[in-house]
Amino acid sequence: MNKITKAVFPVAGLGTRFLPVTKSSAKEMLPIVDKPLIQYAVEEAIGAGITELIFITGRSKRAIEDYFDKAYELETELEMRGKTIMLEVLRSILPTHVSCIYIRQAEALGLGHAVLCAKPALNDAPFVVILADDLIDASPGVLAQMIKVYEQQQSSIVAVEQVAPHETGFYGIVDAKKISTGLLRVEAIVEKPDPAVAPSNIAVVGRYILTPTILACLEKVHPGKGGEIQLTDGIAALMQQEQVLAYQYQGRRYDCGSKLGYMQANVEYALRHPEIKNAFSSWLEARKA
Ligand code: UTP
Repeated sequence: MNKITKAVFPVAGLGTRFLPVTKSSAKEMLPIVDKPLIQYAVEEAIGAGITELIFITGRSKRAIEDYFDKAYELETELEMRGKTIMLEVLRSILPTHVSCIYIRQAEALGLGHAVLCAKPALNDAPFVVILADDLIDASPGVLAQMIKVYEQQQSSIVAVEQVAPHETGFYGIVDAKKISTGLLRVEAIVEKPDPAVAPSNIAVVGRYILTPTILACLEKVHPGKGGEIQLTDGIAALMQQEQVLAYQYQGRRYDCGSKLGYMQANVEYALRHPEIKNAFSSWLEARKA
């Protein structure tokens, strides 16, 4: 059986909903309390047994490479000042058994194109794709849940959730038949349909397990919605050749690509952060009064 060890993190988007902050830094480096979004995604991947991280980066994304690199000067400085706890926090960002590859997407031509950029590093093996701006609070992590399903099914799987019918225009939407509890077979998939023509309100969220066949499919995809090469269109082509499943994950998602979702995640995570939870919760209570 093919064990999945590679994860692709597309982080080359323009992040227009977060301008101006994304003018010079990546959306994925925005913090939820004190850790950047990308760190939560990497932790979820490592928790699911991933050992090779493939970042698809673009302009203004150097901060991501620096973040996962060793910071010699800072570590020496912390050591000299006896700040051992912080030193440990820095050193645990990336466990030693995990390696990183960075590939540039020269132009933000779409999520499908970003995934295709990972091809040279994928060696014809199944892989996962994680969109760090979908922060999902779950235990076990959503990827670990999906890999368990993959081990039984050996086919591509997209994570899905039900959204409000009027929100279909923000997501890839599937038409799917139930196979068992939480598992469906995808029969059609369409990018950001208008509610009036959406096949359902079952939306794809930012976690995918894909077989390497997707790469040949993406090579043939033409620009679709928004003039971008859409991963959704690649998956629609993949379905013509192989089974694609939809998995209804257990967990709470925050859409941190939107300002509202991002602020909600910060409040929820602050309310359980060991350092500030008491003070923050008292402050919130006092504000209501
Ligand atoms: P989004 O649809 O959220 O686009 O991309 P975006 O550019 O990041 O943000 P907005 O909508 O302009 O505010 C979904 C994911 O795909 C990546 C993004 O970095 C994000 O993680 N992506 C998108 C790429 O890596 N390359 C692309 O060409 C497009």
